[in-house]
Amino acid sequence: MMMMIHMDRFSCFVVVVLCVVMAARVSYAAGNQFEVDKHLNRLNKRSVKSIKSPDGDIIDCVHIEHQAAFDHPSLKNHKVQMRPNYHPEGMNYESMKVSSKSEQTITQLWHLNGNCAKGTIPVRRTKKEDILRASSIKNYGKKSSVSTVAQPNSIDLDLINQSGHQHAIAYVEGEFYGAKATMNVWDPQIQQSNEFSLSQIWLLGGSFSSDLNSIEAGWQVSPDLYGDNNTRFFTYWTSDAYQATGCYNLLCSGFIQINNEIALGASISPISKYHGSQYDISILIWKDPEQGNWWMQFGNGNVLGYWPASLFSYLTDSASMIQWGGEVVNSASDGQHTTTQMGSGHFPEEGFGKSSYFRNVQIVDGSNSLRTPKDIDTFTEQPNCYDVQTGKNGGWGSYIYYGGPGRNPNCP
Ligand SMILES: *[C@@H]1O[C@H](CO)[C@@H](O)[C@H](O)[C@H]1NC(C)=O
Ligand SMILES: *[C@@H]1O[C@H](CO)[C@@H](O)[C@H](O)[C@H]1NC(C)=O
Repeated sequence: MMMMIHMDRFSCFVVVVLCVVMAARVSYAAGNQFEVDKHLNRLNKRSVKSIKSPDGDIIDCVHIEHQAAFDHPSLKNHKVQMRPNYHPEGMNYESMKVSSKSEQTITQLWHLNGNCAKGTIPVRRTKKEDILRASSIKNYGKKSSVSTVAQPNSIDLDLINQSGHQHAIAYVEGEFYGAKATMNVWDPQIQQSNEFSLSQIWLLGGSFSSDLNSIEAGWQVSPDLYGDNNTRFFTYWTSDAYQATGCYNLLCSGFIQINNEIALGASISPISKYHGSQYDISILIWKDPEQGNWWMQFGNGNVLGYWPASLFSYLTDSASMIQWGGEVVNSASDGQHTTTQMGSGHFPEEGFGKSSYFRNVQIVDGSNSLRTPKDIDTFTEQPNCYDVQTGKNGGWGSYIYYGGPGRNPNCP
């Protein structure tokens, strides 16, 4: 009897708690919904036309003057620069040589269904479900603030291991005003949706602490960010080591796009095949010596836009390190190394047609000239999981093979 009463009281208590919990949840969801809609409104600007891409994306053609960049406090009265004042010297070096299939044959899938007129820019529309996949609205479009950059010289190497981000990169240190490379494009397998695999160029300024400045561009597979396993062209920037500033693509105000053909975050096609056709893209990022803005060009003539100098602290001057290579997240959720692949998923030793590469790797020096860098070093946390090798030859200049399968008998 005594026991019964006790139980009744207990169940009554449980019901009350449940009700309180449920009420709290309902109001959290409603508040959250409001925040999500507000964020969508911030990101998705009024468009003059929308194009449905075969991969499910919607590309909005947004008037240049209406893009999200101008919401940035320091860009309120910014006058858009429609072209760079300068290109680096020595640009012709590479266009004379055609090796594998060039970026000319690579398109973005949405081109199949339309284009954006001059004076507008193509913007990948953010959907509600994109934001809901993020751990919070604040984190949507950002890299985790745990150190995600390879720190080749840091004595505290354990730190990078802990954060679960793994790299296989080549790098140079000095004073740089740009970087260029041609990289082949792959579709690495991702073990679970909160991991990603990317291949990119990094331009870094400042120290590896809370004020690191970084500009990044390349291709990535990131299920949480995009909702699929497609390989996508992307950019990233931060001026405080991935904390409060910066984001992927146009997911925050900062990068100013002027190009009406290339959408940041859109899927790339076709993709290189193991032992088959290789498809590569060229990326050049350089600093306008007069205005200080950092420009980006895709392929041989597609100037995409620029990061205004005012976004940065150290990069207002020059980059102190350039890196080329891959990065994956190893969440090791089942106690083993992830099977998420980097690059082609094959090791550098396998060479052309099998391994992922950066070829014609160049830097822009203090006299605004493209040059082959002198002393390239390499770095990887676990070479048995993902590795990197460098080399030089006539046609490819300075080149890098990088990547790997992740988990394998030597990387348990
Ligand atoms: C991505 O690929 C993994 C396997 O590699 C698969 O389990 C997952 O369902 C795919 N995700 C999407 C959104 O297609
Ligand atoms: C990272 O961790 C792995 C395994 O725990 C270890 O073998 C490797 O030496 C570490 N790498 C660095 C750079 O500390």
